[in-house]
Amino acid sequence: MNSRRDFLKHLSAAAVAAGAVPSVLTWGLPQRQSVEVPGEDGMILRSFRFIDLETPVEYFNTWLTPIPHFFVRNHMHEPSELDAHDWRLSVGGEVEKPLTLSLADLSKMERHSVVNTLECAGNGRSLQRPQVPGVQWGKGAVGTARFSGPRLRDVLQRAGVKPTGKHVMFRGLDEVPGKVPPFIRSIPIEKALDSDTLVATHMNGSPLTKHHGFPARALVPGWIGAASCKWLAEIKVLEAEFVGNFMSPGYRLPNQPVQPGDAVKPEDTHPLTALNVKSVISGPSDGATMKTGKVAVHGAAWAGEADITKVEISTDGGVTWNPARLGKEQAHYAWRLWTYDWKTDKPGDYTILSRATDSQGRAQPPTPVWNPSGYLYNAVDQVKINVS
Ligand code: MTE
Repeated sequence: MNSRRDFLKHLSAAAVAAGAVPSVLTWGLPQRQSVEVPGEDGMILRSFRFIDLETPVEYFNTWLTPIPHFFVRNHMHEPSELDAHDWRLSVGGEVEKPLTLSLADLSKMERHSVVNTLECAGNGRSLQRPQVPGVQWGKGAVGTARFSGPRLRDVLQRAGVKPTGKHVMFRGLDEVPGKVPPFIRSIPIEKALDSDTLVATHMNGSPLTKHHGFPARALVPGWIGAASCKWLAEIKVLEAEFVGNFMSPGYRLPNQPVQPGDAVKPEDTHPLTALNVKSVISGPSDGATMKTGKVAVHGAAWAGEADITKVEISTDGGVTWNPARLGKEQAHYAWRLWTYDWKTDKPGDYTILSRATDSQGRAQPPTPVWNPSGYLYNAVDQVKINVS
């Protein structure tokens, strides 16, 4: 785990090596004050080139994740210059009346809020065996926030979607280095017109921060994080799914289960959409030493477009399971916090497991379902502790 000091150390070493401080860290601020990333409270730095920050699982004890603890996933540099007054969002393609909207235009539209658990499709990738390439996320590329802004549907209805419009493409303002293809993806028109899909301008009641897509991002609830394009510049209605690197080969799953390590042909894959059912244990921490007596086991569980129906805990490595208590706070696309009061009088080594089940009847598998990019890892979670 990296403390902010570690991050700064890392930053200066890397900046010297690279000969420059990346623009992401100088955004709108004088250079000296610019090294303020939400690493202050121990976020884990997974990539320095394009800032990727992971939340330690121990932080998953509030229903809404505070913004400085919300994971950050960037495929390239964040926009170095972005003025809220000059920013414009263009809406075009298969529409009757192409539009250009300012932030003031968006703020005049009806604002809708959705509490959504946003999870990166690659969350948990480091746990796949054999290992797969990509950012080696642990368990913390996930967080829950209240996203607010106009409905994408209202924006599209203003432009008037033609009957030929079948997919909606988002383009962000990322600074694309060298030959990296731009971050452009699309979602089917049905999801775009869903009353909970947003052009979000706020997170937890405050304007989006730069890491999370200021001034506006797509919010595609229940779907993989990659669907929710940050720093939105363009919305384009298309006749068919967008063709580009982040739709294919990126963010696809094999049509059939494959053996770990197997290669998969692109034509045998489909695009990722909704998230899996999943739980993580936020405490006790893996490797913790506890005293005999009461041990509070707690964590969070989510299921994309489905609802969590139960979370079960095993303290004997999976032989017996007991229900956890689900937290009161809930919303359709949001995780449920859960707790399990365990009492143990016997010192020893224990493996604690958590298993979530959802309203679609899906349950976490006992072992990971492998795929070549390590997407949607959702095996039963586990921590090992010692009771003395
Ligand atoms: N949007 C743009 N423009 N560029 C990106 O690199 N990353 C995506 C998505 N939107 C990305 C993006 C991915 S992979 C994820 S998981 C989420 O943003 C992460 O959102 P966050 O950084 O606000 O947590």
